[in-house]
Amino acid sequence: MKRWYKSEVVPKRQSLNRTLDQSFSEHRHAMGGYECVGYESAAQFFATHLDASPRHLCYQKFLPAHLPKAGRILSIASGRAANEMRLLVDGYRVVCSDLEPVCPDEARRLFPGYEFMKWDVLNEPLPPERFDAVMCLSFIYLLDEERLRTFFGRVSGLLKPGGMLVLDSAGSPDAWLANLLHNVYLPCEAWLACGLKNAMNLLRQSGSNGSMVVRRKHHGYRYGDREIVAAASGYGLKVEAAAHMDFETELTRSRLYHHGVRHLPPVRHGLLLTVGRAMPYVRMFAFRRAA
Ligand SMILES: C[S@@+](CC[C@H](N)C(=O)[O-])C[C@H]1O[C@@H](n2cnc3c(N)ncnc32)[C@H](O)[C@@H]1O
Repeated sequence: MKRWYKSEVVPKRQSLNRTLDQSFSEHRHAMGGYECVGYESAAQFFATHLDASPRHLCYQKFLPAHLPKAGRILSIASGRAANEMRLLVDGYRVVCSDLEPVCPDEARRLFPGYEFMKWDVLNEPLPPERFDAVMCLSFIYLLDEERLRTFFGRVSGLLKPGGMLVLDSAGSPDAWLANLLHNVYLPCEAWLACGLKNAMNLLRQSGSNGSMVVRRKHHGYRYGDREIVAAASGYGLKVEAAAHMDFETELTRSRLYHHGVRHLPPVRHGLLLTVGRAMPYVRMFAFRRAA
């Protein structure tokens, strides 16, 4: 497991929380504000919050094949619940949960079957119901090793015997190429971008903008596949299927890639096949609880 830091170039006067997000308002900020936009119709909701997001589209390729249509599914840390609403429309029975609901009135208006339970998976008592399946997307990157074990223990307690847990790694693996990107390349690129911005400001004599600085924020943790599988197996959760997807999001964090290389098809293709494949952003796992 590696600690995952993000280096951001921000105005010196801007305050930035550098520690791991804890409260719902910090999570909401990290998710771009959870604004209630795109709720005019179900079609607009899916176009805005599912089809326009590579990460959520990847989830959607894996979820229906590994979740039971007949049983009740609990979604942990559901956030805006784009995949959950898709599943609901497709006939799955999903109960959403999170620290707080996101746009609940709008969600209920579009999707009358929307059910939400305010629940902190790490700290609050388990709800009385036992579920046929649990899903949890883009969450475990927030957990250190001790909390990851707590999470698997609690999920195992929520599942009926033989029930399924479907989750994603929520980040690229703790592997050498991804570590090089996050721990060396991206911080260097941020320092360079920051220096260039300050130099441009000086040249334009727009010192009124204030100088820029690099701030390092603890974003989360990155786990290898084996670590995730081993932590789950300690609680009777046996891996049944896994898939690696989204080979571009991690590369896109590089300004050089995002603004330049990505627009050169042969170079992009080559990088995706080599570097990108070694650092999948979405790694899906389906576990079954021992019967
Ligand atoms: C990165 S968002 C993911 C949201 C959604 N699953 C998705 O994929 O778009 C992480 C979510 O975890 C929720 N969260 C953080 N800590 C939590 C906890 N202890 N219990 C339940 N939810 C939590 C946050 O409120 C936030 O909505």
